[in-house]
Amino acid sequence: MKSKGKKGSFTAAPPGEPSRSDLIPLSRPHVPKGTLRGLGAILRGRHLAAGPVTAAFEAALEGLTAPEVVTVNSGTTALMLLLRALKDHRGRGEEVVVPAYCCPSVFWAVRSADLRPVVADTDPATFAYDAGDLKRRLTKKTLAVVVVHTFGTVNPQALWDLPFPIEDCAHTVGCRRGGRPVGALAEAAFFSFYATKLLHTAYGGAARAPSAIAARIRDYKLTDSVSKGTPRGYNVSLSDLLAFLGLAQLAEIDAVVAKRRRIARAYDAALAGSGLLVPRDYGSDACYRYVVRLAGTPIEEARAFFRSRGITANRPYETPLFLLGDAGAYPGAREIYDRVLALPLFYDLTRDEVLKVKGALRDFAAGL
Ligand SMILES: Cc1ncc(COP(=O)(O)O)c(C=O)c1O
Repeated sequence: MKSKGKKGSFTAAPPGEPSRSDLIPLSRPHVPKGTLRGLGAILRGRHLAAGPVTAAFEAALEGLTAPEVVTVNSGTTALMLLLRALKDHRGRGEEVVVPAYCCPSVFWAVRSADLRPVVADTDPATFAYDAGDLKRRLTKKTLAVVVVHTFGTVNPQALWDLPFPIEDCAHTVGCRRGGRPVGALAEAAFFSFYATKLLHTAYGGAARAPSAIAARIRDYKLTDSVSKGTPRGYNVSLSDLLAFLGLAQLAEIDAVVAKRRRIARAYDAALAGSGLLVPRDYGSDACYRYVVRLAGTPIEEARAFFRSRGITANRPYETPLFLLGDAGAYPGAREIYDRVLALPLFYDLTRDEVLKVKGALRDFAAGL
């Protein structure tokens, strides 16, 4: 039986298969206690646009990383404005290096900044750039290199060797490497606070940059107070209502990361010795996505196995960036696309749900 709604928008699961809503999802947004009360107070105060709460959220993000942080309506916007501001500041640079295995938004952000994305392959062993391919892609025209902490694993690359590295912290908030906060490892960084992320504002994002560049981003962000010389304003602020969601979660970020790490370790234990396990450094990893590396099992077969156990298992990106172009040119990204599967990992997983995923992982590994 088909459900009501737009044609083709949703069909019921075939008989015998769990419907999507019965499955443990890959992620479920965390809403801390007291959030409703806080939102109510903002509504009663009648200040709904960007104001004191957004400012407090930016200050808290600076406390977690480094000055200066500017919030906007998405991670894509944050990167686009960061690149525009950087280009204005430098007065030169045409190309931005982006990883082949990544969210396609990163590619579109570069294009939207009227710059050229140059795609370098991803190393399937580390999910960071293939160091040799990255080196080949750097030219005199390179303005910046987007360095992604994919799945929450802090990028192991020597960032200081790169021309203007920008940390993509869409998958990492509240972590440190070598005593330094992730998000302050490079000259600039940006964050996504989309609903599935470690810390969310439903939709949202932020850029962190040196003050001259941050000031330019603030100009671009608005329409009514752009400085002379700013080509245009985008009107892409984060409202106080949404910023409150982020602020409330920021107060719990240590607990969120700690619990994600505990769950990931529990899954690791179920996979011990199986070859499916992707090792992590639990001292720095934000554990955004729990991924397994399939050897011979086709991805659809593995998905069906977990689905039959009531568990969502998906490719981390259904359409990663490299599929936008010459897909055959990026063997590392292709290998990740063909072999890597993500399983549920989020703060609000219940004990029973964790046990269910653990059991399925153990059985899947045993059946190989
Ligand atoms: C690694 C990475 N960078 C950037 C983005 C873009 O962020 P947003 O969805 O907030 O625009 C995403 C996707 O959410 C992402 O996964």
